[in-house]
Amino acid sequence: MTKLAIIGGSGLTRMESLEITRREVVSTPYGEPSSPLIHGMFNGIEIIFLPRHGAGHTIPPHKINYRANIWAIKHIEADYVVGMATVGGIRDDMTPGSIAIPDQIIDYTWGRGHTFFENDLAQVTHIDFTEPYCNKLRKNLITAAEAAGLIIIKNGTYGATQGPRLETAMEINRMQNDGCDVVGMTGMPEATLARELGLCYAHCSVVANRAAGRGEGPITMDDIKSNMQNGMSKIYALLIELGGILG
Ligand code: HPA
Repeated sequence: MTKLAIIGGSGLTRMESLEITRREVVSTPYGEPSSPLIHGMFNGIEIIFLPRHGAGHTIPPHKINYRANIWAIKHIEADYVVGMATVGGIRDDMTPGSIAIPDQIIDYTWGRGHTFFENDLAQVTHIDFTEPYCNKLRKNLITAAEAAGLIIIKNGTYGATQGPRLETAMEINRMQNDGCDVVGMTGMPEATLARELGLCYAHCSVVANRAAGRGEGPITMDDIKSNMQNGMSKIYALLIELGGILG
């Protein structure tokens, strides 16, 4: 049976409607994942759910043990991995509540454990990252969203920032000049690590706010939370269709 791993971000720390079958504590050479892996069934496919910020939403973006999370997901032999996360919208059409499936990444993070290929190497290894996401899964996510009747933005460049603070308006200007369409804090090194272990990984970005300097006034957590909830109800509709496509 197809195994779909879902790494949930803010707004998705637990999956309602998941029929949980077991919780699995996975020990990894890199330490503890953000939480035990939650196994369950959702619309006929096997889901392995991992809340990226921990079950109680306590781990900030720069403290997440990305290597342990991805190693654990490889260990349970997931066929597909969807990274779900809220983002700020930079491009004009990236308005709160919209969903995007990015196809490119620019990485502005630093100091995170970002590779499996650094110790005890038989030889130096450079993965190809020209296309950072798994296109097969990206296409399936887009098809699922369309089947669910959702408006979906089919591409875009994800800019990964260090956090936990939000960006300045000028940082967002610079990111836009660089070509970024959305900004988030957790998309890297998750995508790299998945590629290093040969996992089929794609990102589902839920726009929670206009990025700094793009909306009216400061960005408030209340705004982020209410838009996030709106976006997450769409994510459930998308996942129901995705189960049918992958299953
Ligand atoms: N910036 C970075 N990460 C985010 C944002 C943002 O504006 N919104 C949600 N996650």
